[in-house]
Amino acid sequence: MNYPFEKVADGAEETKLIAEEFAEELNGGDLVLFHGNLGSGKTFFVRSVCSALGIDGVTSPTFSLVNEYHGEKKVFHIDLYRIEKADEFENIGLYDYLSDEDAVKFVEWAELFPEQLKDYDFLITIEYIDDNKRKIKIERK
Ligand SMILES: Nc1ncnc2c1ncn2[C@@H]1O[C@H](COP(=O)(O)OP(=O)(O)OP(=O)(O)O)[C@@H](O)[C@H]1O
Ligand SMILES: [Mg+2]
Repeated sequence: MNYPFEKVADGAEETKLIAEEFAEELNGGDLVLFHGNLGSGKTFFVRSVCSALGIDGVTSPTFSLVNEYHGEKKVFHIDLYRIEKADEFENIGLYDYLSDEDAVKFVEWAELFPEQLKDYDFLITIEYIDDNKRKIKIERK
């Protein structure tokens, strides 16, 4: 994959192919941030990457805040949507998750806390174009 990678995915199946290609780029310890609106496809992308890593049944961490999985790699799937202040990071143990050097960390709604997430490896921005089309941009820090 060459960076920045940018493509309009015409249908969820095409997004899944991009996610599978991206899964091969990941190393243990990587921090992957997601930017993109409600329903843009962040969880869908993470689910597809995880599936490629041998992890099935990924669900949205909107309420759990953090989901942990073990497949080919250890994965933390984090959703910051319901976090109001960075103060809460400490209580939830988010800094511990983010500093885990073995796990791949996927963070939805990273745009809400840029100051706390400066040290990332990949930034994936998903833009809604229409019901089936999404513009997917993958940048490497
Ligand atoms: N090309 C596409 N790529 C990704 N998802 C698509 C595409 N076309 C349609 N979809 C659909 O869009 C929806 C995206 O929902 P998803 O939960 O992944 O969004 P999200 O960005 O995680 O939202 P939230 O901010 O609420 O967590 C899914 O139902 C998915 O099937
Ligand atoms: Mg989501």
